Amino acid sequence: MVRVAIFISGGGSNMVALLDDMARSGHAGIPCVVLANSEDAGGLAHASARGVPTVVVDHRPFAGDRAAFEAAITAALDPFAPDMICLAGFMRKLTAEFADQWAGRMINIHPSLLPKYKGLNTHARALEAGDHVHGCSVHEVTAALDDGPILGQAVVEVRQDDTPETLAARVLVQEHILYPAVLRRFAAGDRSLLILPS
Ligand code: GRF
Repeated sequence: MVRVAIFISGGGSNMVALLDDMARSGHAGIPCVVLANSEDAGGLAHASARGVPTVVVDHRPFAGDRAAFEAAITAALDPFAPDMICLAGFMRKLTAEFADQWAGRMINIHPSLLPKYKGLNTHARALEAGDHVHGCSVHEVTAALDDGPILGQAVVEVRQDDTPETLAARVLVQEHILYPAVLRRFAAGDRSLLILPS
């Protein structure tokens, strides 16, 4: 079995989707720990309710010393012996060194059709650009932000009356389908591109 650590910062809706799919039969992954950078991350309760160990590594005491923060993360992860990491709404930038340590073993979900709209405010940017389609991507994490090999994408039609909020809500529904489907394949060693709707 592939031991999966999931990193969250907030409600962890993607984390819940990943945990619930790993609880279903035939999945090569098993959750070993959920790590949050804040005690206030709502997803921690959802992980505990599913019997998944949790750990908090608060980034604030490290005051911008990313290497020290990541050393604390590495120490916190060690007892759980993860084979891979899923970033799921994790809002802290990771250094190139950390990404290199986990090269090929760390994935992330981003709310755009990468390589479009790396970074934040993706839904507003897609609307401002007048895009007719938008969506989400699961990618391997590399040193550059939102830039690694793409493992899966889900496409969402943009509607005339969409606001960033209504578009984000429809994209999030697809995230909860795409991310578990990609993790199920990735844990089984399949890195082929998945496009939804299929
Ligand atoms: C989502 O938009 C996701 O694409 C991004 O973080 C947001 C919150 O995710 N990575 P979650 O609900 O905390 O999983």
